[in-house]
Amino acid sequence: MNILQGKNILIMGVANKRSIAWGIAQSLHAAGARLLFTYQGERLKKNVEELVASLQADDEPILISCDVTSDEDIEQAFRQIKERVGVLHGIAHCIAFAPTEELEGRFSATSRSGFAIAHDISAYSLVAVMRAAEGLMAEGGSVVTLTYLGGERVMPNYNVMGIAKAALESCVRYLAADMGKSSIRVNAISAGPIRTLAAKGIRNFNEMTKHVADKAALGRMIDQSEVGDTALFLFSHLSRGITGEVIHVDAGYSIMGN
Ligand SMILES: NC(=O)c1ccc[n+]([C@@H]2O[C@H](COP(=O)([O-])OP(=O)(O)OC[C@H]3O[C@@H](n4cnc5c(N)ncnc54)[C@H](O)[C@@H]3O)[C@@H](O)[C@H]2O)c1
Repeated sequence: MNILQGKNILIMGVANKRSIAWGIAQSLHAAGARLLFTYQGERLKKNVEELVASLQADDEPILISCDVTSDEDIEQAFRQIKERVGVLHGIAHCIAFAPTEELEGRFSATSRSGFAIAHDISAYSLVAVMRAAEGLMAEGGSVVTLTYLGGERVMPNYNVMGIAKAALESCVRYLAADMGKSSIRVNAISAGPIRTLAAKGIRNFNEMTKHVADKAALGRMIDQSEVGDTALFLFSHLSRGITGEVIHVDAGYSIMGN
């Protein structure tokens, strides 16, 4: 099923093979997309190179360093993307960060700098990236970001990251309205908990996953491939009428009462 044949899609946020971004990359690759990757600095370059090589894609891999806290980095990344492929049809934005000390204890103890960092990297980066990408999405496009239920409800230890996810979900709606006339769609996937590098920073994450598996409608957790396949739908023409939405891929956890 090559429904993404001829589409150039940028994957931002692969750190290792557990990354949700990598689950998305695998689904999109299987559907025939040409993938480009950005990674956060030289520290992660080798990881990403090895993973991308394992895809055995026909086209030469395109990997670009991009730290989203730097406007210069974002600009140079999209300049390189323009030179290499000319047109971009999609972006998977799978990036978030908050200092570990902010992901435990009382929310009211959130520091000014922790609040700013979490919002800069986890929410504002989507705005900055889409501004830089808009000109390359001349044929229309689809942008997918990753959020979590902690942006809608209070989840233990998620603290400032929940506020950043609420901001991100609002950015999705404002960007969808802003860029809709250019046929650029923007949606978020609200994923259930998955053990990744980022998730390790959240105190008691493992205990929480047990509770989620017990309570979810499907009686289990989800994995990266399930997020990847929903992203595939959102990047394809099958979802052409959907924008500004938050789709839960959480085995039905969020619909349950007690
Ligand atoms: N794992 C979960 O349970 C879960 C659930 C719902 C949503 N999410 C979201 O999914 C997304 C991907 O996270 P993940 O769980 O796959 O973890 P991950 O650690 O594999 O990915 C996070 C990525 O963010 C990147 N990043 C952080 N700061 C950056 C910066 N300044 N510039 C560029 N990149 C930067 C990291 O390099 C990493 O690749 C995040 O937005 C996360 O909040 C995760």
